[in-house]
This record gives sequence, C-alpha cells and structure tokens, in this order.
Amino acid sequence: MIFIASIAKNIGMSDRPLLVTCGLPYTNGPCHIGHLRTYVPADFYVRYMRRAGEDVVFICGSDNHGTPIVISAEQEGITPRELSERYHRHFDETFRRMHIRFNHFGMTDDPTNHARTRSIVQRLIDGGYVYEQTVCQSYCPACERFLPDRYVEGICPYCGAPARGDECDQGCGKHLEPGEIKEPICKVCGGKAELRDQEHFFFRLGEFSDFLLDYLPRLGGTTNARNYALGWVREGLHDWCITRTLDWGVKFPAHEDLVVYVWVDAPIGYISFTEEWGEKSGNDWTQLWCGDARITHFIGQDIIYHHCVFWPALLRGAGYGLPSDVVASGMVKIDDKTFSKTRGYVVWTNDDYLDQGLPADYLRYYLLAYTSHTKELNFSWKVFSERVNNELVDTLGNFMYRTLHFTVRKLGGIPDLDTDPEIIAEIEATLAAVDTAMRDYEFKNAIDSMMALASFGNSYIQKNAPWKLIKEDERAAAQIIRNCCQIVKALVLLFEPVIPVKGQEAWEMLGYTDEIGAHGLGEALTGFAGRDLPAPAPLFEKIDEDTLARLEEILHMRVEHATMKEQKDETLLSIDEFAAVDLRVATIVEAEKIEGSDKLYKLIVDLGEETRQVVSGIARFYTPEELIGTDVILVANLKPAKLFGVESNGMILAAGEDASLLVPLRKVDPGTRIL
Ligand code: MSP
Ligand code: ZN
Repeated sequence: MIFIASIAKNIGMSDRPLLVTCGLPYTNGPCHIGHLRTYVPADFYVRYMRRAGEDVVFICGSDNHGTPIVISAEQEGITPRELSERYHRHFDETFRRMHIRFNHFGMTDDPTNHARTRSIVQRLIDGGYVYEQTVCQSYCPACERFLPDRYVEGICPYCGAPARGDECDQGCGKHLEPGEIKEPICKVCGGKAELRDQEHFFFRLGEFSDFLLDYLPRLGGTTNARNYALGWVREGLHDWCITRTLDWGVKFPAHEDLVVYVWVDAPIGYISFTEEWGEKSGNDWTQLWCGDARITHFIGQDIIYHHCVFWPALLRGAGYGLPSDVVASGMVKIDDKTFSKTRGYVVWTNDDYLDQGLPADYLRYYLLAYTSHTKELNFSWKVFSERVNNELVDTLGNFMYRTLHFTVRKLGGIPDLDTDPEIIAEIEATLAAVDTAMRDYEFKNAIDSMMALASFGNSYIQKNAPWKLIKEDERAAAQIIRNCCQIVKALVLLFEPVIPVKGQEAWEMLGYTDEIGAHGLGEALTGFAGRDLPAPAPLFEKIDEDTLARLEEILHMRVEHATMKEQKDETLLSIDEFAAVDLRVATIVEAEKIEGSDKLYKLIVDLGEETRQVVSGIARFYTPEELIGTDVILVANLKPAKLFGVESNGMILAAGEDASLLVPLRKVDPGTRIL
C-alpha cells in the first residue's frame, strides 16, 4: 500500500480535476486520419492519466455551424441540421470504433450551446467588449444576399493568392475580415459580388494584448501553441467581427438577422458539452469551468490562433476559467503531399482502414509512435506496416507470447516467487520515464520507453534461456519467468492506453477477468490475480504484403481519379478565365487585299478610343465595300502576330465554312466591351 502511494507521488498526481477536450469536427464530411491526430493522442493521454490516478473528464462534440456546412447541405438538398446530424452520428460511431471514449459528445447546434453562447455574448456586450460598426461586405446582386466567409472567393489583399472569404487558404494563411477580400466572386452563382454596407458587431480583441502577453508565457501544453500565439500577439491584434449574415447558427442577441461567427459558438461548445455531461452524470460542471480545474485542449496546429488568442480573450471577457494547457499536433500529410480531399491525398478512417478489417489499435499505435506530436506526420502505408510488424509484432507481441507460452506450458502457471529487485528497478525506471514524457506531451518518447522495456524483456529472456535452464535448475528458470511475467504485466498496463483492445486481451491472458481500466499503474509492480493462466495466443498479426499492396492501391487509385477529374475541370473555363478574353465591338473602316494572298484582308478597325490593324481570312467571302462600315466583334487582347509580313493586333469573330461575321443586333458604340 505504501508502495503504491509513493508511486502516486512520484508520478506527480494532482487533486485538481482535469478537463480534456478535443477540437470539434465539422459536420460536413467524414472522419479522416488527419482528424485522428487530435483524437487518438487525446484519448491516449486521458486513459494514461486515469491509470495514473487522475480524475479526468473527457469532452468533445461536433461543430455544426459555419458557411461550408450550409453550402454542403444546399448542394445535397437537405437542411444543415440534417447534414449535421448525419455526420454527428458518423463521428460518434467512428470514435467508438477507434476506441476513443468521450464522457460526452455533444452538438454545437443543440439548445444548451445556443443558450450558453447567447449568455456569454451578452456578458461580453455588458462588459463593453463588443461594438457595432458598419462594414462593407461582399453582396451578390444575383442571389440577393450577403456573402459571408466561404460564400465568397477572390484574391488575398495581402499576398495576391486566390483566397476564401475568411482565410487566405492557398497563400499567406492570413485570417481575412469580411469585406477585405479583393475581386469577390459569389460561390453560389459564380457571379461577381459587390461590396455593400452592413451593420456588424466586433469583439475588442485588441484590448486583450496585455492580458495575453501575461497569460501565454504561463500556458502549458506544447511549445508550438504558446510560441505561435505569442508571435501573433506581438505582431498586434485586430478586433474580430463576431457576426455573420446567415440563418444557420446562434442568433446574435437582439439582432435576429445576424448569427454569431462559428468560431464564437464552437469553442463555447466545450463549456456546453461539459454542462450536458454534468446534467447527465449528476456532476457539478461549474467546478471545471469556474473553479480551479485544469483545462487541456487538444487541437491541430491549424487552429492554434483560435484556441490560444481568441478563445482565452473571450473567456476572460466573459469571466470564465482559462485553459491551462493547449496541446497542438503537427499536421498530417499523405505520402509527402499536403492533405487534400480534392486531390485525393486523404485516408478515410472507415472506408480505407477500419472497413478493410484492420484493427483500430494498429493505427493508434502508428499515429502515436511514429513521430513527435508537434512534428508533421508524413503518413505512408509502407511505414505503417513496418512499424506494426517490427515493433508491435516482433518486439512487444513476441516477448509477451514467449513468456506466457513458457509460463503455461512448462511451469503450469505463474511461479509463486518474488520478482527480483533489478527487474523491479527496471520497471520503476520505465514508469518514471513514461510519466515524465506523458506530462510533457511527448507521446512518442513515452512509447519509446515502453517499447524499450519490451526489448529489455526480449534480451533478458534470450540471455537467460529458461528453456535450457529448466533442465538443470528448475527454480532458477522459474525465477526468470516470474521476472518476465512481471515485465509483461507492466507492459500491458502501460500499453493499454495506446492499444486498448489488445491491452484488455493481454490482461485476460494474465489471468484477470475484470476490466484493465480499473487498475492503476502502481500494479505494474505488484503480484497477479492468481497462478493459473488461460492458454496464450499471439496478440498481434503481421500486415502481410497483400494487405499492404491493397491499402496502397486504394490511395493510389484515389489520387489518379482526382487527377483525371482535375484535368477534366481544367478544360472548362472559369468565369474569370472567360472574362480574361477582351471582346469588343469594332467598326471596320478600311479593308484591302494583302498582296500574295487571296484569302487575307488587311483591316483597319475603329475601337472608339483607338484604331487597330487586323489581318483577317475573310477575303473570299466579302468585298471591301461590303465590309467597310460594318460593326464586328474583335478579340482585342491577342498577342500581336505577323501574317504575310503584315502585323495583326486582334481577331474578328466569324462562324462556319463561309465565315459568317458575328455582328451586334442593335447599334452600340465602337469599343463597347462584351461580357
Ligand atoms: N471545427 C473546427 C474546430 C473547432 S474547435 C472549437 C475544426 N474542425 S475540423 O473538422 O477541421 O478538424 C477537427 C480536428 O482535426 C481539429 O483539431 C483539427 O486541427 C484536426 N485536423 C483536421 N485535419 C488535420 C490534418 N490534416 N492534420 C492534423 N490535424 C488536422 O477545425
Ligand atoms: Zn494571402
């Protein structure tokens, strides 16, 4: 007992409750392995912390608002609520299949979050943190509506790259405020958008600079989150427009024509879902958000700004507790390419993995063990199968099976002996190393330490060769095996948070019949349920060549398919590309044959502001007299070309075999642009 208490102290247990959340998935597409890099490490951390004796509440939910969801729903001809419910169920189910177990998984569109968001926004208004201002916002005259965020596409005002309404997604990555985007185009109808004035509400983010400069250096979690955020605050903060002209979302208090920006009500979902969990389980949620609890957010690197700048300022303004840690993962790439659904560089959790019959545990292991949490993770099926085969199968699985097999077959059960002190010391050192790594969010290091214990076990059993020893000294062999069993028990307790399904199976092979989740890490050093063990079976199976080839083929086909689709799309002109052709009405003022050619005329055309010389192949169909005075259509921005030594600055449009000229039906001024 004293022993376990001292371990608890060693591993730095705290009596402050811990709330862990994950970035909320948007409900407009299925779960992919990019998402999993937020949820798997969070689930690992939560399971570990519970095993280490901490009181943890694990909260998540789906993010239902924002324009992309409205657009997707419109395209499918269903309501945004219907779309959200469908993908909400999808994520909930997928997380269960991946053994990611939240205490509660809510929806930001549910009443709790509407109420909580309105109350927080009201508090911000009452506190003087919100002001009203007219903004010039993109408006589509054809659709007769304002175009929030992703309803518009255009050009980034900072770097000139093509951008979405609220973010320069292909260029400099800057957040764009409504009205900032250049050359806005309506995403719904493809028409040109214009700027119109509208009343909006702004959050005085700029006023929180000093607060953030004080808060951020003390923020725990990964250094990337802290450092990026500090950099942005030092660059200077802009106030945030927190309203949108949409129907879908949380209505802004006293302005039913506006909803709050999705990045306001989404993080507030963390609070609302804790509230829902509290009601469901009879716990006091206010202790977590308004008391001295630790709040840890797991997110991907792409949403650090929202969690480390905007969110703490919002909480501060509304008088809630602040996050103590933000843990931000590096992004997932596929075969060295940026994750992209449209280009086919995506791996779907269900279709491409779970439905192929592969175990959740393998993917969890790979995502956690492959590289440091803050680094980019370059996914490849080849490396995935190598890691599974070499580490889970050959190192961990092999040691456990050898030990248990010998225990059952040769000794009839776990030897009733004390584990040698040197083995206890080895396990204690591993426990300490793992604990330090886990509290630093160094998940790869934690797993490396665990795997090092498995390697130690393999060398130990190899070196001591109990299968030989047993012939000379049965007691000595039993001692070796007792030691190995102790290592196996430690490994099972340590690895279960990584590979929960295999962890439970292995636990049962050690003679336990209950859930491993109820057992603390301190038991890595204590005895067993009993001497008797069931017959062991290998825990892991290798990923064979055929499976690897199939997985690679699925990805390969998807990329091929996307490339073909893109090429097809490329033969279609966008409205912008068409608009790049300068078509104008031109009046022919002179026409004469070019010497040496019976097909070509040299024409002089009047464009109002200027005259042009154009060479045209219509000499066989019209006389100069017929042409002079005729209004025709000229492509006015062609590169100059020379025909029969005569320069041509444009092209006259004509149709068919005998060059029927395209002419305006009614008289317009020469030079009039056609679009
Ligand atoms: N809805 C927002 C989060 C709101 S939190 C109040 C969002 N949703 S998301 O569906 O795009 O992403 C959900 C989580 O997965 C986020 O933590 C995000 O960072 C993470 N990832 C999504 N794609 C990712 C990669 N390709 N790589 C790593 N993580 C990424 O963001
Ligand atoms: Zn840009």
